[in-house]
Amino acid sequence: MIKVTDLAYGRLAAPDLDRMEEFLVDFGMIKVDRTKNALYMRGSDGDHHHLHVTELGEPRHIGMAWWAKSEDDLRAISKAHGASEVHEIDEPGGGRRVTLPDPDGRQIEIIYGMEITEDIDVRETLYNFGNNKVNRTEIQRLSMNPGHPSHIKRSAHVVVKTPNLAKFNEWYQTMLGLVRTDSIIDMENQEKDMMTFNHIDAGDEFVDHHVVLGIQSDKAEFNHLSFEAADFDDIQAGHYWLKSKGYKHAWGVGRHMLGSQIFDYWRDPWGRIHEHWTDSDLVNNSHEAERWEPPVGLNNQWGPDFPESFVDDPHLHVL
Ligand SMILES: [Fe+2]
Repeated sequence: MIKVTDLAYGRLAAPDLDRMEEFLVDFGMIKVDRTKNALYMRGSDGDHHHLHVTELGEPRHIGMAWWAKSEDDLRAISKAHGASEVHEIDEPGGGRRVTLPDPDGRQIEIIYGMEITEDIDVRETLYNFGNNKVNRTEIQRLSMNPGHPSHIKRSAHVVVKTPNLAKFNEWYQTMLGLVRTDSIIDMENQEKDMMTFNHIDAGDEFVDHHVVLGIQSDKAEFNHLSFEAADFDDIQAGHYWLKSKGYKHAWGVGRHMLGSQIFDYWRDPWGRIHEHWTDSDLVNNSHEAERWEPPVGLNNQWGPDFPESFVDDPHLHVL
């Protein structure tokens, strides 16, 4: 129906916005606004007003917002089944949007015209490598234990569990224009996927390996929101910072097989996973989607084994 240009933000609910704000600052975001009922956080990239919203309420995943290319696309998607009219966003950052449910009942927002902010400079780390030992000739002083919060650049992807992965994929592909990048085969029914990675369709422009990963499950659940951090050092410094603050670690540090990101996963105070990553594979419309037998997609190129608790945790039994 339309082709969204990127994931804008995830929308969660939490019963204590002070605690959520503290976690997100330690995770590497910057508060951009806070109202009586909601918290808005940004990253260092300025092409968004915010990339994370937490509403005051019982802990749950409400849904996610996507950037539309134009007002025309907002009007087009407002004709979809269950969609709202195009309306002003009555929240910090403004803009216009259409809301509609995905097949599992998540709230999907399609937005356009939200305020943008200035980029915030983050120090670039220069590395000396084996074949290039003079890329940096200054003394390296990045941090001092226990590190510092990572620097979140941008909103990157979302991972959810769904009771009907085929229907889920069809909806995101036909309504939002996403394209399948890779799948992991359901070995009990090999026609079907157990997991499907989808990317943004930006034609011959390169985009992240995935923006939505759906996991076949018995019910609809949230798994994680993912954010690009500045670089590898930034992830490691952030890891030790979060550890020093006593937050619960979920998985990492490692390098994924499908997507190749260097990743590190942490739980917010209500158990919801937030990911730092850097160095994703990029794909464009010349990419040929593949289907992989497990455990390829779950294994790492390096790092700790995939923990079962990552996808089967009582904290996550909330849509
Ligand atoms: Fe991820």
